Amino acid sequence: MSRVALVTGGTRGIGAAIAKALQAASYKVGANYGGNDEAAKKFNAETGIAVFKWDVSSHEACAAGTKAVEAALGPVEVLVNNAGITRDAMFHRMTPEQWVAVVNTNLNSLFNMCRPVIEGMRARKFGRIVNISSINGQKGQMGQTNYSAAKAGELGFTKALAQESAKSGITVNAICPGYINTEMVQAVPKDVLEKNILPLIPVGRLGEPEEIARCVVFLASDDAGFITGSTMTVNGAQYLT
Ligand code: CAA
Repeated sequence: MSRVALVTGGTRGIGAAIAKALQAASYKVGANYGGNDEAAKKFNAETGIAVFKWDVSSHEACAAGTKAVEAALGPVEVLVNNAGITRDAMFHRMTPEQWVAVVNTNLNSLFNMCRPVIEGMRARKFGRIVNISSINGQKGQMGQTNYSAAKAGELGFTKALAQESAKSGITVNAICPGYINTEMVQAVPKDVLEKNILPLIPVGRLGEPEEIARCVVFLASDDAGFITGSTMTVNGAQYLT
């Protein structure tokens, strides 16, 4: 029987590629999204993947949203925490709102989303959690104290939960994408992208969302059962840990 996978931020960008790749690998997929109804409707029409709207920064919304996914598709066996935002600004200009929005959406969402599924995974003795962190959580990035802090926090969370969950057949891993060809990266000022970012990528190009999606499919598979607490770096050799 096919397993159920839930992808947050799953209707656009890297998340959409992950949802499609899991569907192609025979998972029953639910894609969460936060606000863009039009994109979600289009994604659902194109793929047939069920879409569910809630805000991953809200604990209550995640509990209710996960319940709705489980009622529609069955118990969540694979959770991909992909939803994320940027509110880039130099720290000396950063507002409390920019800080809180990024930490709530990118980091607190891991608590909000893992908490409702972990007990079921432990009871069933199987689970796969994949957290989409970032190169900028590994190396830090000017203009992103909020995002770098949240993404680094995801890595600590991943390692701790992996140790707690190992005996229950649950793996918890993180992927750190580099600069990937999505709307988020296209929003970086063009001169910054061309002058400060592209020249630093030895592979000589942005990554493609599908290149991250293939890593998720592998980490979700039975074959990856011995890989847990790890950080998979996928950045074209821009930053090597
Ligand atoms: N790398 C290196 N230098 C950078 C930089 C970067 N990513 N971003 C900005 N700078 C430099 C600028 O080139 C500029 O240098 P000069 O003074 O020599 O020209 C200096 O920092 C100040 O930049 P701005 O003039 O643009 O200052 P600003 O206050 O108007 O804007 C900013 C600052 C909001 C940080 C803006 O530059 C910006 O958005 N930069 C991009 C930051 C970035 O890389 N974000 C990643 C988004 S993609 C992502 O997050 C996905 C992921 O996981 C990888």
